[in-house]
Amino acid sequence: MPEQQNESEDDIATLEAADESDTPVSAPRTLSPRAKQMIGLTDSPTIPILIVDADLCIQHITQAARLLFSEYYQIEKKPFFNVFQQSLSLDEIRSLVRALHSADQGFGWSGNLRHKTRSTATLHTTANFVPFFNEDRSLAGHLVYFVDTTDVYKGNLRNTFNGILEAAKLKDNDTGLHNERVSYYCRKMCEYLYDIHKYPQIDPDFIDSIGFLAAMHDVGKIGTPDYILQKPGKLTDLEWEIMREHTINGTFILSSYPDPMAKEIALSHHEWWNGSGYPFKLEGTMIPLAARIVTIADVYDALRMKRTYKSEFTHEETVQRILANKGTQFDPALIEVFTAISDNFNDIWNLLKDSEPPRPDTRDRSKEFSESL
Ligand SMILES: [Fe+2]
Ligand SMILES: [Fe+2]
Repeated sequence: MPEQQNESEDDIATLEAADESDTPVSAPRTLSPRAKQMIGLTDSPTIPILIVDADLCIQHITQAARLLFSEYYQIEKKPFFNVFQQSLSLDEIRSLVRALHSADQGFGWSGNLRHKTRSTATLHTTANFVPFFNEDRSLAGHLVYFVDTTDVYKGNLRNTFNGILEAAKLKDNDTGLHNERVSYYCRKMCEYLYDIHKYPQIDPDFIDSIGFLAAMHDVGKIGTPDYILQKPGKLTDLEWEIMREHTINGTFILSSYPDPMAKEIALSHHEWWNGSGYPFKLEGTMIPLAARIVTIADVYDALRMKRTYKSEFTHEETVQRILANKGTQFDPALIEVFTAISDNFNDIWNLLKDSEPPRPDTRDRSKEFSESL
């Protein structure tokens, strides 16, 4: 309806103006009797609910809502989007405002909101706007209830990709707990980097993501022919070329994963700082940070493992070999950090060491990690 359209356009214009000026709008408001009644009915201590009036100003906040968002917002009686504008894209906000003024859409809206601060991991919620009306049938406001979907969101996603990882392990199953240890080393290194504020992109989401995704670094080997994965001894040049494709295959397999870090790790964990790695000979900071971190963790663990073509290196020997490749294979700044926390790597190795040696490997993997190690 034209009238409703104008009204929603006005709301968007007001929102954009508020966005530009960043000035909270809060004015004493006269609540309709219906809105007051709704507030009385919804004072639930356990359900995160807001009551907003017809102008989308927050008029009531339950204790559960304050608790749910305590690490993200100071929720006050002010316009809804002054609090939540970071949780939706501008397009999503437009569609929400239009829906709330549209009789065709029942004056309601349901959708996903992502809440994030520098020091907290992303909180995923669904928000459901349920309209209520005055006696004259005009819109009195909305009851907004939130459902925390963080665990469901991450759980569904990760279950799917864990299935793929298990399938990859069946193909290349002499690695024991290597993938899990690599994830723990990466998480530890990122926690340290976060504490020292080394890289702005490392925040709780980054730590959580790398803690899951580092284990996926070799998932592309699911596409490597068995005769190469299981070949005794060294690979020919052609076989080696095919083996290298596991980086690109991994990127295809992880292409639907919503966090680009998944593809960065799969694609670039064999790149070298000096540009002599593969698949694209990326150099220096052209190599994504997550991949540079995984490279160190992957090589540390590979060196600690006993292989048919090499004995198990001690922690000290491994650290020496990694330090010797600072600036050639590895990012020198990250090697500084590795040096500072290498005892933690040793602890993780000892804690998650394979109780019985993984199935004896047949393939000479030395080239997979470093031609000079
Ligand atoms: Fe790899
Ligand atoms: Fe690995």
